[in-house]
Amino acid sequence: MAESAQAGSMGAHGGGTRRDFLVLTASALGAVGAAAVAWPLISSMNPARDTLAAGAPIDVDVSHLAEGQQIIVLWRSRPIFIVHRSAAELKTLQEQNVTTLLRDPNSAADQQPDYAKNWHRSIKPEFLVLVGICTHLGCIPIFTPDPGGNLGNDWPGGYFCPCHGSKYDMAGRVFQGVPAPLNLPVPPYNFISDTSVRIGENPPGSNFDLDSVEQL
Ligand code: FES
Repeated sequence: MAESAQAGSMGAHGGGTRRDFLVLTASALGAVGAAAVAWPLISSMNPARDTLAAGAPIDVDVSHLAEGQQIIVLWRSRPIFIVHRSAAELKTLQEQNVTTLLRDPNSAADQQPDYAKNWHRSIKPEFLVLVGICTHLGCIPIFTPDPGGNLGNDWPGGYFCPCHGSKYDMAGRVFQGVPAPLNLPVPPYNFISDTSVRIGENPPGSNFDLDSVEQL
């Protein structure tokens, strides 16, 4: 049985390492969207801690997640990034001047379930779901969706890992020339309604297990 909406946050455009990861609790479906705006800090996870640690699925309401925003939930004690990508961000994912800079643009490595082995690495193009752990040495990459800026004029938006400078695009695909070897993993997940994501449970017919990815 799924637990509802245990959510963690590092801010809509924020980020950080495991050390400063903030955990908040949303007790019911629908609360996560509000949390995406306010980002309150709650001291700890609520009663389902043991169940969550054991890997029970969690349900997250993304109905209030605005385009361009990210929320982070904890599943199996790992940060899970959920992003509502804009049409412009989706277009960028397909641009050749970006894909030629990526190490594995077609997701050839087993870092995602088959249902996310596509150009947007997700079930619904607009909603990205990733395990937010750098494939180099395990830091939590920072959500850096705005193009350009400190990462250079050719930065298309994505994730920057502050530990050793690895970069990923807005589908979690790793760039060439950085220490991280692989794309960010995609966890098992499914949509149980138009706007509710169940993390930890595959769509019918799939038996993907996160333990089977090449690297977490
Ligand atoms: S842990 Fe991310 S670049 Fe080293």
